[in-house]
Amino acid sequence: MAKVKTSYFCQNCGASYAKWQGQCTSCHEWNTIVEEVIQKNEPKHWNTSSEKKSRIAKPVKISEIESSQERRLVTLNKEFNRVLGGGIVPGSLTLLGGEPGIGKSTLLLQIALQLPFKTLYVSGEESAQQIKMRADRIAPNSELCYILTETKTQHIFKQIQKEQPDIVVIDSIQTLHTDYVDSSAGSISQIRETTSELIKFAKETHTPVVLIGHINKEGNIAGPKILEHMVDTVLQFEGDRNHVYRILRSLKNRFGSTHEIGIFEMLGNGLREVSNPSEILISKNKELLSGNAIAVTVEGMRPLLIEIQSLVSTAVYGTPQRSATGYNVKRLNMLLAVLEKRAGFRLGAKDVFLNITGGISVDDPAIDLAVVGAILSSNEDIVVEKDICFAGEVGLSGEIRAVNKIDQRISEAEKEGRRQEGVLQN
Ligand code: TYD
Ligand code: MG
Repeated sequence: MAKVKTSYFCQNCGASYAKWQGQCTSCHEWNTIVEEVIQKNEPKHWNTSSEKKSRIAKPVKISEIESSQERRLVTLNKEFNRVLGGGIVPGSLTLLGGEPGIGKSTLLLQIALQLPFKTLYVSGEESAQQIKMRADRIAPNSELCYILTETKTQHIFKQIQKEQPDIVVIDSIQTLHTDYVDSSAGSISQIRETTSELIKFAKETHTPVVLIGHINKEGNIAGPKILEHMVDTVLQFEGDRNHVYRILRSLKNRFGSTHEIGIFEMLGNGLREVSNPSEILISKNKELLSGNAIAVTVEGMRPLLIEIQSLVSTAVYGTPQRSATGYNVKRLNMLLAVLEKRAGFRLGAKDVFLNITGGISVDDPAIDLAVVGAILSSNEDIVVEKDICFAGEVGLSGEIRAVNKIDQRISEAEKEGRRQEGVLQN
């Protein structure tokens, strides 16, 4: 029997070491190095039946490279296409990360069921029956969608060679394992090896691969950071599980901008694309209440109206509480200090709670003014008129600064029936 070979890997950055040590010298994290079993048989080609002789690439003049017109597989899901920059690029690897239960499998199954191409959905997490049950809920039957419940990459590639799908979905990368590495599925060395096999396959056959990735408790994609470097596109599916809205963002995109977001609503029959987010993020209450203010923010290229709610009350305990949902609490403290020092409002002994409705998080400084509006509205108990919408950054000396994309913001606000007042142009 061959001698079992082991190596030590940092679970944070993926660096490998010959022996154990307390701190990773690459990312400086402590206690992240664990032993993993590896077998350094030279990694085989994904396509075992027709192993190619390794070709030596030659340098080519850039002017002589033919620029192929980018062809993309356009899905029926407009929000998904938008985030990717127009569709899935052939031969690309896309990684979709997100918390458990947020709807990653639902999103990709729904897209797979609607694709007019032959799709192979590989699941290592659910049985074929479970997937069928979910599919029955979300979309009509498809003749082009194939389900494979398998976790070994060599078996998956065998089926791929037989079926020749136009696109492959893997749910999830943490469940895959390859014969050439001995450690358990989900370990750093397995993730790295299976991903590189998939990359080789995708680049050689021009078949796009979409991977689902779990995220760890810090909110990063579980596995080595290298995984994010290896793939072409990293998407993140986020939202509050207690709310129905989900946001799809791109964190990295080799074929498009990372400014686009897609908004979805989780319904009983799958995810619905939300094409007019402003309409849903604003409450439809007829009755006006103090503490609410509307802001217009720009997420990527898209302006949207959001509602900010604030509650300011006298602190019951010695230290006043400041809490913010969907907004940076440090920035909230900064705005409170500005209001106290520059505008003379006595907020130092008050509890301040802030919430952005719809369960979304915003870090656009242009909503500062609406935050201030909501806080003062609650503090003074004065209602902010429904047709007023704020956009402005608040500086440390209490000045209101101009914000970018003001024309887009104004036209979105007007579309939703708000007045224009006190606009600062850049
Ligand atoms: P799932 O796609 O399994 O999440 P992930 O793959 O990210 O772990 O989504 C699971 C949640 O979505 C589950 O809590 C139920 C909910 N859901 C709906 O609300 N409607 C639906 O049509 C489906 C399929 C799921
Ligand atoms: Mg899942």
